[in-house]
Amino acid sequence: MNGAREKWTSKLGFILAAAGSAVGLGNIWRFSYVTGTNGGAAFVIIYLVAIILIGYPMMVTEVAIGRKSEKNPVGAFKALAPNTPWWLVGALGVFSGFVILSFYSVIAGWSMAYIFKAIAGFTPGTDFADVFVGHITGTGVPIVWHAVFMVLTLGIIAAGVVKGIQRWVKILMPVLAILLVVLVFRALTLPGAGEGLAFYLAPRFEDVTAGTFLAAIGQAFFTLSLGMGAMITYGSYLTREENVADNGGWVVGLDTAIALIAGLAIFPAVFALGYDPAAGPGLVFITLPAVFAEMPAGSLFGFIFFVLLSVAALTSAISLLEVVVAWLVDEKEWPRVKASVIIGIVIFVIGIPTSLGMGPWSNITIIGMEILDFYDFVASELALPIGGALTAIFAGHVWKARTVIDETNDPPGAIKIGNWYGVLVKYVIPIAVFVVLITTLIDFFG
Ligand code: TRP
Repeated sequence: MNGAREKWTSKLGFILAAAGSAVGLGNIWRFSYVTGTNGGAAFVIIYLVAIILIGYPMMVTEVAIGRKSEKNPVGAFKALAPNTPWWLVGALGVFSGFVILSFYSVIAGWSMAYIFKAIAGFTPGTDFADVFVGHITGTGVPIVWHAVFMVLTLGIIAAGVVKGIQRWVKILMPVLAILLVVLVFRALTLPGAGEGLAFYLAPRFEDVTAGTFLAAIGQAFFTLSLGMGAMITYGSYLTREENVADNGGWVVGLDTAIALIAGLAIFPAVFALGYDPAAGPGLVFITLPAVFAEMPAGSLFGFIFFVLLSVAALTSAISLLEVVVAWLVDEKEWPRVKASVIIGIVIFVIGIPTSLGMGPWSNITIIGMEILDFYDFVASELALPIGGALTAIFAGHVWKARTVIDETNDPPGAIKIGNWYGVLVKYVIPIAVFVVLITTLIDFFG
């Protein structure tokens, strides 16, 4: 194997980087609106089951594949199953990296723009739906923010694994944690916060439908950055002295904790001021600014919130770009800086139509979807679940569950992966994911 591969140099390097990847728009923007539209705590409980039965085992699987092979996703499958077509699963992951980052960066750009809207002040009585639509339908401004966000992302990746990724997550993740605690404290001390807590924490099983299970599994993959080899790539920088099961446990635990805590910040605030928690994707960009406008020192808390959201998005975006860059560096022997800059620019360009699709190009639809929804559908609803299920089949049946179990328990850690892992990875996960996938497709095209 390539003995010169760069490795995380601190015990927390992998955990912070992988948790940084996992904690993103998915935890704050996506988790809150999916919970809001799927019946609150009833969804949260099903989501937690999906995290335990699918998320954690797949996290451990990807990290083990990465640490063993010391390669990017394409190289990892080639190394563990030489002369087979399994490397195509890695290639699908690299493709997903391009697509997800291209629209993720556009949404992150909205968040950065909102930092400045908060500085200008959120004023009571403003029609925030109008503000949001006005912003995202613009031609130049959202694209400029998309460019700014991509420059930050590629700058960190160009600097390398230790000097770029590790250095920045060590700064940004504590910042994120502090901002979140401030916001939770503010939200829970608002008069009327109790009703929001009740909505969030009291399960209403009558709201659960088949769609709730699908949403929970999809959310588990997306929020943990699984299904496209991001954790294979970060695992490839993990030293052999580290235990995979424990490190994976930390990442899954932190990501889950931050999603649940973000809910504690958002729902009480939404209820305290009498807004609709089921507002959908606009929840954080329309409902929350309205909430901030009405709360004392609201613009300050709005500023904190959008800095938090942007930081969370940045530490996720770097993992998406790293997958593509690691592939070019390992397989095509490109210098890291060249790969980062060129791919950063390519992804920026691919993202432009998703931004224009909100405004000047909104009449363009692909199979009935706006451009951004189409990108999201292809990547999050098709490529990630397919990639995840194939990775599970590969680990369980080709590389063999036994090998993964031994790899994750070497050296031994506090968590011991037992034979239950084989049952999950060989049967439960592929079957559950394919059922979700087929149901989604029937939903869309049926
Ligand atoms: N997990 C991130 C979030 O919750 C998004 C993300 C980063 C991601 N890397 C990924 C999703 C890889 C899927 C695959 O926002």
